[in-house]
Parts: sequence; C-alpha cells; structure tokens
Amino acid sequence: MSGQSSYVPENGFMRWLDARLPLPRMVYDSFVAYPVPRNLNYAYTFGGILGLFLVLQILTGVVLAMHYAANASLAFASVEHIVRDVNWGWMLRYMHANGASFFFIAVYIHIFRGLYYGSYKEPREVLWILGVIIFLLMMATAFMGYVLPWGQMSFWGATVITGFFTAFPGIGEPIQQLLLGGFAVDNATLNRFFSLHYLLPFMIFGVVILHVWALHVSGQTNPTGVEVKTSADTVPFTPHATIKDGFAMLVFLAIFVYFVFYLPNYMGHPDNYIEANSLKTPAHIVPEWYFLPFYAMLRAITFNIGPIDSKLGGVLVMFGSIIVLFFVPWLDTSRVRSTSYRPIYRIFFWIFVVNAIILGWLGSRPAEGIYPILALIGTIYYFGHFLILLPLLGLIETPKKLPGSISEAVLAKHGGATLPTGAAASPEKKG
Ligand code: HEM
Repeated sequence: MSGQSSYVPENGFMRWLDARLPLPRMVYDSFVAYPVPRNLNYAYTFGGILGLFLVLQILTGVVLAMHYAANASLAFASVEHIVRDVNWGWMLRYMHANGASFFFIAVYIHIFRGLYYGSYKEPREVLWILGVIIFLLMMATAFMGYVLPWGQMSFWGATVITGFFTAFPGIGEPIQQLLLGGFAVDNATLNRFFSLHYLLPFMIFGVVILHVWALHVSGQTNPTGVEVKTSADTVPFTPHATIKDGFAMLVFLAIFVYFVFYLPNYMGHPDNYIEANSLKTPAHIVPEWYFLPFYAMLRAITFNIGPIDSKLGGVLVMFGSIIVLFFVPWLDTSRVRSTSYRPIYRIFFWIFVVNAIILGWLGSRPAEGIYPILALIGTIYYFGHFLILLPLLGLIETPKKLPGSISEAVLAKHGGATLPTGAAASPEKKG
C-alpha cells in the first residue's frame, strides 16, 4: 500500500470505529492519500469506469431478476412485460443491455491501454493475470445473459456455441450435456444460465477486489513507463485522480445515457425480438459485437490440421486467443515498458488494433467467399503479434531515451515550469 498511514480520525466516532474496524483508514489510505503518478492521462480512467459499470450492471440486474421468469415458456413474455408494464422497467432493461456493451467498450480500452503502456510487465504480472481472469468471467457472464430473453439469437447463439464443445473428442459431449442440462438448448439450459448469470458478476466483483489490491501493492504505471522515484513524481489520489476519473465517468455516462434513451436497440440484433423457435434457424447467427473478433478466429479454421479436424482447430484457436494473453508479461522481452519510447513496436501495436477491428467486422460477415480467408490472415497476425513480434522486437529494437524520472518528463513537456510540490524534482530541461 502507500506505506505508513497518515489517517487521523476526524471525530470521536471515527476514532472508536478505527480502533475496532479500520475501514475508514483503508479507504483514506487507498483513495484519498494514495500517491498516483502525476502524469496519468485519460486512458488511466477506464479502470474506475469499469468499476462503476460493474456496480451498475449488478444493481439493474438484481431489479430485473425480480420481474424476470427463468422458464422457457415465460422468459420472452416476461422481458416484454418488464419493458411495457413494470415501472421504469424499460429503462432498467435498456440500461442493463446497453450497459453490457459499454462495459466491453471500457474493458477493451482498458486492455489496449495495458498493452500500450506495458502495464503487464514486472512487477505487475499478477495484476494483469487477474485482469485476464476478469475478462474471461465477463465473457461467460455476457454470453449467458444474452440467452435469457429467449429470442431467436439467444437460442441459436447458445446452440452454436455450446455445440463447439463437442469438438473435443471423448470429453466434449458430456461437457456439452452438462452445460445444457440435456441434449439440446431447453428449459434446463435457461435455468442454469440464469443461475450462473446471477452468480458470476459477484465472482467478478471478488476478483476485482484482488485486482485493485494487486494494483495498490505495485502502484500504477504511467505513460513514461518509468517507475515512481520520489514524492515529486506523485500527487495524492484525492483530489487529482478522483476529479479526473469523475469527469471521465460523466462523459462516458453521457454517451451511455444517449444510447439508453435514443438508440436502445442499436447494438442489439432484431432477431432477438422474435421468440426462440427450435424449428426455425435464423439466416445468419451472429453473436454480440464484443465477441465478433473471437468468432471470426473460431470460423477462420476451415481445414483439418493433421489429426485435428477443422471444428476442433477453430475452438482451440478461439480459446488460444485468450490463453495467450496470460503469457504476455513473459512474451514481451523489451527492457522499456511504455510503447511511447518504442518507435518500431508502436507501429505494430496500431496494426494489431486495426487487425482486431477488422477481425470484428469479419466475424459479422457470413463464413463464405473471401471472408474466411481474410479471417485466417487476421488470425495469423493476431497470434504472430504475441508469439513472434512481441518477443523479437524487444530484442532488436533500439528504444528512445527514457526521461530520468516522471517529474523530469512532466517538466520537459511544460517548458521547465516548477512543480507545485516536492523539492526533489530535477528542473533540467530535456530536448
Ligand atoms: C471489471 C473489470 C475491471 C475493473 C473494474 C478493473 C479495475 C481497474 C482499476 C480501478 C485500475 C486502476 C485504474 C486504471 O489504471 O485504469 C486497473 C488497472 C489495471 N488493470 Fe484493470 N480492471 C478490470 C479489468 C481488467 C482487465 C480485463 C485487464 C487485462 C486483461 C486489466 C488489467 C489491468 C492492469 C494491467 C492495470 C494496471 C494499469 C497500470 O498501472 O498501468 N483490468 N484496473
């Protein structure tokens, strides 16, 4: 944490509580006095935004569950009932559905920020791994949540995705039947997905606590990637980070609210307003937008690879695309943390971002014609980035000269002005 506690209880009650359960002290040390690098930019506000959206999803979800019926013959109608009859039900439902999308927008920005600034590098490997676990849990939660309205896309999406488990020889079918609670997506599936969809966000909450704990042990990185050296490199969390995070949350919420009120179904699929029908397959089965890059990689493998048939190959590639993230701290061999000081890697980083977006677009296209070939190229690039470029560039690239400290970098940027606090700052200017 931030070292010695500087918390002084303000009144008798706080003194009493502090001696018995030092919760106010913990909050003070972690979110008031906690030192953060003075050069954090807005990319660093998305962790806070994610925390806000996690709470928002849980709150809206708990109230929705009071009116939702987890039964295959009632589910679709119960969601319509929420939207039409329940007081503010339409708002709750649209906040929850769009909230999931905005949660993923924030998490993708958060992950790409981590990749850009090398946030995963020593000593933050565990912090990063906890993040990847959160990401996996988020995907499972969102997948099961999408099944609950029991529309056509819910039903057929669940059928397609659970069907992929059968690709694993021997163990695949038993796993699929365990997931489904039978031989096909049905009432038992809906029930267990509802149960797990309610449970997983609380597990995410638990892992987030560990994530923030690990963050407070190592401290945040910053755009220079140079670690904090003296108190001149930091500012107290409050008011500096609280104001910045608060402002970013308000801007993000404003965009979110615009979608909730004016474009509530923009990110959804019209087929999900048709009740699930096991006898009628939709023309194109597509997952929610945030799964599309992974869906594209799943479908990119259209050929057998030795003893591995194309179906299993696709599933392994899809799972592999997430598993590889666990190893990023060790795949990156660069001595320099921040991409800002890595001129060659920076180019490849942005190619990686564009590639991920193109993969997302390919995931929404039918798996025919040129699309699977393009998806295969994108998939090769995705893995090549992590398995070849990341280890190789770290060894051969000559990074730019790093600033001596965070405060030196800040001063150089602002023409040598003096810092408001801290005597240890070096006032030299850098070219
Ligand atoms: C519910 C989801 C999540 C929440 C609430 C959350 C929360 C936070 C918070 C509050 C911070 C500090 C502020 C910031 O740097 O933005 C942070 C930092 C960080 N997060 Fe997350 N996070 C989540 C998911 C993830 C995921 C999915 C990953 C990676 C796969 C990740 C990796 C990191 C890393 C590496 C840092 C340290 C950043 C640095 O100091 O450079 N987080 N997270």
